[in-house]
Amino acid sequence: MLTRAHAFALTGLDATPVEIEVYTSLKPKNPCFTIVGLPDKALQEARSRIRSAAFAAGVDTVESLLLVNLAPAEVRKEGAGFDLPIALAVLAGHGAVDERLVDEVAAVGELAFDGRLRPVPGILSIAEAAVRAGRPVLLCPVECAAEAALVPGCQPLGCESVQHAVRVLRGESQPTTPTASPSGPLVVAPDLADVRGQPGARRALEICAAGGHNLLMIGPPGVGKTMLAKRLPGILPPLNDEQALLATRIHSAAGVLPAGAGLVRVPPFRAPHHSATTPALVGGGTRIRPGEATLATGGVLFLDELPEFRRDALEALRVPIEDGVVRISRASGSVVLPSRFSLIAAMNPCPCGGGGPQGCTCPRERVIAYQRKASGPLLDRIDVGVRLERPAPEVLRVDRPETTTVVRERVCAARDRQYARGVVNGLLPVDLLEHVAPLSGECTQLVDEAVRRLSLSPRGIHRIQRVARTIADLAKSDAIAPAHVAEAIAVRLGAIA
Ligand SMILES: Nc1ncnc2c1ncn2[C@@H]1O[C@H](COP(=O)(O)OP(=O)(O)OP(=O)(O)O)[C@@H](O)[C@H]1O
Ligand SMILES: [Mg+2]
Ligand SMILES: [Zn+2]
Repeated sequence: MLTRAHAFALTGLDATPVEIEVYTSLKPKNPCFTIVGLPDKALQEARSRIRSAAFAAGVDTVESLLLVNLAPAEVRKEGAGFDLPIALAVLAGHGAVDERLVDEVAAVGELAFDGRLRPVPGILSIAEAAVRAGRPVLLCPVECAAEAALVPGCQPLGCESVQHAVRVLRGESQPTTPTASPSGPLVVAPDLADVRGQPGARRALEICAAGGHNLLMIGPPGVGKTMLAKRLPGILPPLNDEQALLATRIHSAAGVLPAGAGLVRVPPFRAPHHSATTPALVGGGTRIRPGEATLATGGVLFLDELPEFRRDALEALRVPIEDGVVRISRASGSVVLPSRFSLIAAMNPCPCGGGGPQGCTCPRERVIAYQRKASGPLLDRIDVGVRLERPAPEVLRVDRPETTTVVRERVCAARDRQYARGVVNGLLPVDLLEHVAPLSGECTQLVDEAVRRLSLSPRGIHRIQRVARTIADLAKSDAIAPAHVAEAIAVRLGAIA
């Protein structure tokens, strides 16, 4: 007997429909259980989980011949999400549930030996694919139902076990509605008012937040670099619908979305440790999983202690920063993942940190080598550089700086101007620059002079133009004025000098 079920294969962020055909023979000469159609190891192991779960549901498959075909054959199928649909087709083959009921729905979920369902990553992408494929009813683990329900048109049926799924299909049981969590824990970023002094760095942070630019902070230990970076998420505007859906899809595919958390509205803040490997930063591995660069999309990638990062890992970030996408190629084909974040990096000015009573005691060549190692691969990608010094003790005592709320209002106003034009300044493509950020004759002169003085690359020029656009937006100015360009050049200088 031939039965069918419908599942989805997740590759990167995209899910594609997979049709499962199960041929069952109840009294064969040679009982066996075979899965064909490019399954990975986790999927091969599905056989024991499915046998055991079917047994828990009252069906003994030990004497049966089971041939499972996953089509299309050329799509790689990964993970344990195929357990539930295969199990349902197997149960239908044994007459435990009407095959037509199974054929009508889509299903996803990992099985435990006793038939309980466990959540799997990538539900948002799977739910979208289910709707696209015209199979909007999705049987899934209870923990995944809320996430699937975020997709318009999807009708998730949360099930606790394969036994429960069968009863739900037959209309004998209600699906379980997940207990609504109060829209996830509200992350409260620490307040910008905690950082005393450092007006230059605060301004640089505001510009980067407003335009989504890349920032490098250089300064001796204990002056507030890490403090400032941690306060950046607080001054960023919440994600809009489109950004929130993308961020949620990414976190879901990476398996780091808490169950029932709802849409990711808070801009991501990713701060990988400096021991992070290249695959951890840009994604990849045997199963394609989003890396930090993708998880930071819509938010911030913070590289604290930049020179401590592995050289190859920094090199690997160059293209994602420039192009806004990560390309991962494997034998089974290549996958493109988004990586649009603003990069915030922090480092000491030299190996000794320059924080001792005599200031820096390092030989000059070592200082140069240190700075080159750190910023070399990424320097051309940095828009804004800022040097931080020790604030005077009285500054620490009396300074009453602006709060996160005040700064965020300016940032949001500047962002709204950009959204009205369609693109965030940090992501402005070169061919739109002349249209969105035109420079007057006087402004062009300033840029030309800077190009000669600093021997800037064309990429560097474009970066100055984008930052000038943001500075004008913060000033609520439609035109870019010479003062805006001058500040853009000054903050760019901080990264080079
Ligand atoms: N500008 C500042 N205003 C108020 N407190 C500060 C300031 N700078 C540093 N501090 C205090 O010093 C601590 C260390 O600051 P932070 O971790 O940001 O330093 P850092 O510049 O990142 O140093 P390192 O180079 O060692 O990483 C903070 O937790 C805070 O208590
Ligand atoms: Mg620090
Ligand atoms: Zn030094």
